[in-house]
Amino acid sequence: MMTKIAPSILSADFSRLAEEAQAAERAGADWLHVDVMDGRFVPNITMGFVVVEALKRVCGIPLDVHLMVVEPERYVERFVAAGASVVTIHAEATPHVQRALQLIRAAGAKAGLSLNPATPLDWFADVMGELDLALLMSVNPGFAGQKFIHRSFDRLRRLREMRDRLNPRTLIEVDGGVSVANAGELVEAGADVLVAGSAIFNDRASVARNLGEIRSALAH
Ligand code: DX5
Ligand code: ZN
Repeated sequence: MMTKIAPSILSADFSRLAEEAQAAERAGADWLHVDVMDGRFVPNITMGFVVVEALKRVCGIPLDVHLMVVEPERYVERFVAAGASVVTIHAEATPHVQRALQLIRAAGAKAGLSLNPATPLDWFADVMGELDLALLMSVNPGFAGQKFIHRSFDRLRRLREMRDRLNPRTLIEVDGGVSVANAGELVEAGADVLVAGSAIFNDRASVARNLGEIRSALAH
């Protein structure tokens, strides 16, 4: 399967949101990653339903919505209604992980679960059978542009083994500090989907060139 690249719109210029999303789409992005933060689960506040709706109107690729909010089960259906194709919740953010995953699927989207860097990987195991996406955080969620936590490679290899054993259909996504320097190694270690924010939007070069460089790093 071809590795998917999901640019994180959090690093885009928000005064030109439509253009930035369309540039990512034209450059061959597979999904557009949308980081929703509530100022409680993480120390930052970003965007919500109206931004997802607006992106849906201007962008044809699937919206991959990453909810960094407490009690995500209260909001997942509205994000699907707003246009999310994938909705990912954090296991640390709710006592009702399985219920939230069911709500996402019943609403017609793919269901993802994410774990912070220090959360035991076992937390994926019992729900792997009903997971479309397992999102491994390789930074502490809250901000773009942080340094990749190197230990994530080991977690990724273990997650890959767990996924292959329990549900080969689950996609593994890595989020945080992904760049042209580590993209190839991440795919070798087991990533199916790479999220990249600052590496795609923050650089002086164009979105197309940044994304193209990551894509070609995967070819070697
Ligand atoms: C972090 C977010 C990430 C982030 C990625 O809390 O979930 O998606 O925007 O940004 P980079 O690629 O710059 O680490
Ligand atoms: Zn994210």
